[in-house]
Amino acid sequence: MYIKDLNGCEGKEVSLQGWAANKRDSKGLVFLNLRDGTGMCQCVVSIEVVGEEKFNEAKKLTLESSFSITGKVVKDEKQIGGYEIQATDIHVISYSEEFPIAKKEHGVDFLMDHRHLWLRSQRQWAIMKIRNRIIFSIHQFFQEDGFVEMDAPIFTGNACEGTSNLFESDFYGEPAYLSQSGQLYGEAMAMAMGKIYTFGPTFRAEKSKTRRHLSEFWMIEPEMAFFDIFQNMDLIENFLRRVVSDVLRDCKNELEIIGRDTTVLEQIVKPFPRLTYDEAVRIIKGEQNVDGKNSITSLEDELKTILSRIEEVKHEINEREEKIKTPNMKKGEIGFNQAKIDKLKQDQNDLEEQSRNIPQWLNSARNFEYGNDFGGSDETVITRLFDVPIMVYNWPHEVKAFYLKRDPDNSKFARGVDVLAPEGYGEIVGGGERETDEKLMREKITEHQLPMAAFEWYLDLRKYGSVPHAGFGLGLERIVTWICKLPHVRESIPFPRMYGRLLP
Ligand code: 4AD
Ligand code: MG
Repeated sequence: MYIKDLNGCEGKEVSLQGWAANKRDSKGLVFLNLRDGTGMCQCVVSIEVVGEEKFNEAKKLTLESSFSITGKVVKDEKQIGGYEIQATDIHVISYSEEFPIAKKEHGVDFLMDHRHLWLRSQRQWAIMKIRNRIIFSIHQFFQEDGFVEMDAPIFTGNACEGTSNLFESDFYGEPAYLSQSGQLYGEAMAMAMGKIYTFGPTFRAEKSKTRRHLSEFWMIEPEMAFFDIFQNMDLIENFLRRVVSDVLRDCKNELEIIGRDTTVLEQIVKPFPRLTYDEAVRIIKGEQNVDGKNSITSLEDELKTILSRIEEVKHEINEREEKIKTPNMKKGEIGFNQAKIDKLKQDQNDLEEQSRNIPQWLNSARNFEYGNDFGGSDETVITRLFDVPIMVYNWPHEVKAFYLKRDPDNSKFARGVDVLAPEGYGEIVGGGERETDEKLMREKITEHQLPMAAFEWYLDLRKYGSVPHAGFGLGLERIVTWICKLPHVRESIPFPRMYGRLLP
């Protein structure tokens, strides 16, 4: 049986199996925190009940040893999960060698090198459970709405999202690329099925380390025949609202474990502001306010607050460091102060990092040049002013993909839409309405220096019963990162692949 099923088993005898996440012992008693993948549960092993031999086996259990246990279920609100097992029998499956990940703080590189073990920690467990809920929600949303799931190829002969970040591979002597996006194939399938979505791995060679970029990520790409950009935006909004609401309803425990303040997520019921590129640029540059908030002055104010907070923190660190030097101080009090100092130093690091970031954001906001695509900093600057995702549409056509439809009302713009997540997270969705004019499309393919021959099949879609159509791509790890409020995308996927990281 599993820990998640303990509800209603009070007073019964059950058997569980898993790993020792924690152990304490006192005379005649061993307290084990059992982790079985579905939850955590405290187990009490008493020498009087199990006998000396079994008791000694339990006492020798090291962190992450595997064992099975039988015992009576007792309700205990004080314990994680609300139950305790009073063991009648215990069987050690495998004693663990000393577990490399201890309770103390480890550096990120160390944790990433031990990702295969780090995944067992409670925080990582919670993130993976939330990721799983998001995946399930995505399938539910589209399946309930009559979309057909399609699997796009991974080896492709077409660059879909620019040629600068392609992973090249060898396909029986021919060059092939690992797919950057399933969209072009999705468009073909939409002409066969009406509404489709892909859900698969996509690859981008990004030779830089940012907190948003992976080399391998999972993308969900719906494509709908007879949709224009506005219907597309309606769908995006309903879709994201559904995913976030499902997580809020079903992952309360996990969100609590990772310490996610859900106030912002709860705003998801509100309409998402839709801004044209022109409006968004004015907001970034501080020429237009959002609910009285100005991008530039609010960042300046925040920087001031952070700088004075740093001084306060430094002062407190000093005070406590002096304090623990005083003679005859009790061991407990020294430990208490040292723990406070460690925490304050961590805060100081975080604050100093923010104080370095803000001037960069200010700089890029002030100097933003109309006509450019948004960079990470620009997205951060604008999304910090909102508490729901925003949709920016009608982009200068030169900075967006070749397949986007030219705006019929103003040919300077393409009908693309980016969805930017609040709290500084930035782009989570990119999409738009597709060009249907074959001639304009050929011009774009030439302009982007793409090999026309490889796109003839795609151009066929404009010849044989072409219809208006639109779609979008959601980066799974981007939405996991935002919903969990992670500092970096690397914790949102079990085994991240990014520049400088192929193992484990
Ligand atoms: O904006 P992108 O490049 O759009 C497309 O690929 C279109 N073909 C989608 C479509 O219209 N069908 O990528 C879509 C999303 C981004 O908004 C982002 O969430 C995610 O994919 N993404 C990445 N996620 C992690 N690491 C990367 N390197 C990513 N690049 C894009
Ligand atoms: Mg994009």
